[in-house]
Amino acid sequence: MIEDVRRALQDELEKIDKAGITKEERVIASPQSAHVIVQGKVYLNLCANNYLGLADHPDLIEAAKKALDQRGYGMASVRFICGTQDLHHMLEERISRFLDTDAAILYSSCFDANTGLFETLFSEPDAIFSDALNHASIIDGIRLCKAARYRYNHLDMSDLERQLQEAKTHRFRIIATDGVFSMDGEVAPLGRICDLAEQYEALVMADDSHATGFLGEGGRGSIEYCSVMGRVDLITSTLGKAMGGASGGFTAGRRELIAILRQRSRPYLFSNAIPPMTAAASLAAFDLIEKRPDLRVRLWENTQFFRKALTEVGFRIRPGFHPIVPVLIGDPVRAKEMAQRLFEEGIYVVSFSYPVVQVGEDRIRVQLSAAHTKADLEFALERFTKVAKEMRIIP
Ligand SMILES: Cc1ncc(COP(=O)(O)O)c(C=O)c1O
Repeated sequence: MIEDVRRALQDELEKIDKAGITKEERVIASPQSAHVIVQGKVYLNLCANNYLGLADHPDLIEAAKKALDQRGYGMASVRFICGTQDLHHMLEERISRFLDTDAAILYSSCFDANTGLFETLFSEPDAIFSDALNHASIIDGIRLCKAARYRYNHLDMSDLERQLQEAKTHRFRIIATDGVFSMDGEVAPLGRICDLAEQYEALVMADDSHATGFLGEGGRGSIEYCSVMGRVDLITSTLGKAMGGASGGFTAGRRELIAILRQRSRPYLFSNAIPPMTAAASLAAFDLIEKRPDLRVRLWENTQFFRKALTEVGFRIRPGFHPIVPVLIGDPVRAKEMAQRLFEEGIYVVSFSYPVVQVGEDRIRVQLSAAHTKADLEFALERFTKVAKEMRIIP
């Protein structure tokens, strides 16, 4: 490698290391579940996006195996060449029916859905209004687009309105937000956002990756929770979290918007179709969402129990009700140390620091699942308390 490049990269890595924020990967040698095996030892897993515990559900595994036998391993093609099976169409149809939209389009991931959205639909004469804490994939999607960019303060509806007023002369306007913000578990005020969109003639896009399958009465996400189904023009989401956790994403929404994405969206046109087994297992996940409301009930009971218990023993957690429970530590080195000590106590969690969260907002992000039992959570509480006392994080 050219010596100057090597040195510059080494300097950068050293800086990351000195800041105590090097990301290390632990190797799991078991299915993703409430418990995982790492180097032969069992850990309670409190950091997967496996909200409903479907990642190792027998129905999904059976559907995937059947598809593997009947439809093969991979498509070896993008969708429009020879990468579309009936399973892809069935899944798109199922998603749009579930979310009560006109149509849906699959992507390899929600990251792709977001990066393939804005530049396809908008250009110089248009304007995009984006919450300051939107997910990286929305930010990157907006960066790829030539429309004017407006960044409103996080969840600040007055700021959004002020900016919408400023941008009246643009041809098209779209407000883009996470439905649920992945670091804090806050739900976007979609009712107010849709009201503003109607008043200022803007479209609305929401990314429901941390909501699809479990938020709202029927698990339809933040759009259902906020009673705005039919008012949000574009919903993006992932199949890689509550919906089985493998991979895949989608955009659902108005017919004409989805039709143009199918013609022009670059990650859709130039990246492989999702494997048949993933499409089949995702269909099985939608069946379970509809047949098994008890999974959602369990998730919400677990969340309520753990949030309350952590607060009572003195932890500083972001208030809210979502199964994302941010335990605030406020220092990258201490957050990392706490995660490591918890790991030594049999709890699998990781710390989050800049640039994933803002400086000083270092945290352990706990994520609860319907797969956790009450005994799991009591064990977690006992170990969190022990470690935090030893570290003088709580009195
Ligand atoms: C809000 C949000 N959008 C999009 C993504 C990306 O999803 P995927 O893994 O399907 O690319 C994530 C995952 O971290 C997310 O949290």
